[in-house]
Amino acid sequence: MNIAVIGTGYVGLVTGTCFAETGNKVVCVDIDKGKVTKLSSGQITIYEPGLEKIFLRNIKEDRLKFTTQLETAVKDAEIIFLALPTPPGEDGSADLKYILGVADDLGKILKDYKVIVNKSTVPVGTADKVSAAIAQNYSGEYDVVSNPEFLREGVAVDDFMKPDRVVVGTKSDRAMKLMTYLYAPFVRQGNPVIFMDERSSELTKYAANSFLATKISFMNEIAQLCERLGADVDMVRKGVGSDERIGKRFLFPGIGYGGSCFPKDVQALNMSANEVNYSFEILKAVEKVNANQKLHLVEKIKKYYNGDLNGKQMALWGLAFKPNTDDIREAPALSIINALTLLGVSITAYDPEAMTNVKEQIGEKIKYAENQYDALKDADALIIATEWSEFRTPDFERIEKAIKHKIIFDGRNLFDVNKITELGYHYESIGRSNLK
Ligand SMILES: NC(=O)c1ccc[n+]([C@@H]2O[C@H](COP(=O)([O-])OP(=O)(O)OC[C@H]3O[C@@H](n4cnc5c(N)ncnc54)[C@H](O)[C@@H]3O)[C@@H](O)[C@H]2O)c1
Repeated sequence: MNIAVIGTGYVGLVTGTCFAETGNKVVCVDIDKGKVTKLSSGQITIYEPGLEKIFLRNIKEDRLKFTTQLETAVKDAEIIFLALPTPPGEDGSADLKYILGVADDLGKILKDYKVIVNKSTVPVGTADKVSAAIAQNYSGEYDVVSNPEFLREGVAVDDFMKPDRVVVGTKSDRAMKLMTYLYAPFVRQGNPVIFMDERSSELTKYAANSFLATKISFMNEIAQLCERLGADVDMVRKGVGSDERIGKRFLFPGIGYGGSCFPKDVQALNMSANEVNYSFEILKAVEKVNANQKLHLVEKIKKYYNGDLNGKQMALWGLAFKPNTDDIREAPALSIINALTLLGVSITAYDPEAMTNVKEQIGEKIKYAENQYDALKDADALIIATEWSEFRTPDFERIEKAIKHKIIFDGRNLFDVNKITELGYHYESIGRSNLK
């Protein structure tokens, strides 16, 4: 099939590349000229494990192309995917200006039947709005379909190639047939393509992300209780996670959820509820708990130093909002940097993939190290904000040689409390601080 993908960020680039991988001819379009130039010359613009190899293969096979021209991209496409940003507007609701702007442009370009598929995360009713925007300038046939994306950054290629499920919201038989054909190679193992109406499909994505964010915030509150009651959150996690109704995943406490999705999606669902005069009490609490949790480690650090942090030098391991990505949107590490630098702390950070993005955002507010051990030079303490694999079993002799004081504030519970205490460290983690 001929496919167009509009927007080549984390979702668009993975979507375009994976559809090309199953034999489709894909043209990706973006307004960012620099990005398109790089992608066209075979330079990948995001860090996503496994993506580069199939990206290069499909460019070589002439199945994957990039352009800044919307008209060129959609001319021959049977299906047009929108993978555009839906950032929070001033009031927290999803800002649809990118989506509706492109819908308006499409109305002026379309000449024959196309399926326009919304892959962005959008509030209920957006398919109708996209349809109306197209109809202002185009009176021919088309269908607007909702097809929310559930991929996780860091394992996006696997998630896209073998999705747990594909959700498609449409009432059109014609669009349903095309979507079934397109997704068939991805669900050969029998995972479902679930067809539903557009509004239910749009809500499904928000419900899924909000539920996962709730799970994280719930466990973070249990961790807070553990710290006050002398219990070990790792044990509690294992105990509750073994119940199949609860499940083992997404129960790890930490320093709050971040990333480009959970924070904005929880906020947007809250706003959607408000708009229909429904107060979504659980989600309000989830947001509040997360905001507190993002600064929980800072509170611990302040307490340890009796509030006097001025002039301290700290090493920070991890900047990305989670491992295996270079995405720093809403990363807890950035909240920590902000809070600590305001208190007079100098920070030297290391992250395997995210340092370029952080430099672009905050420049020389902090220093950047070549590797995790260089970051420790003369540091009063080490702070861990992202659970990259290489931080899990570090060379403690090298740490000891570089660091000034053996103090670790671990926001990701990477180390065994007893072992690290035996090594002579003052160690604080999440939900386990009273352990001996
Ligand atoms: N990142 C994720 O893990 C993820 C997962 C599932 C769903 N989503 C949703 O998918 C959507 C896209 O997310 P993302 O992370 O890929 O965003 P992103 O910011 O990484 O990418 C968006 C891209 O769209 C481009 N763009 C903006 N306006 C354009 C226009 N008029 N024409 C062409 N291109 C344009 C931007 O230049 C950018 O490259 C959002 O709604 C997000 O909530 C994201």
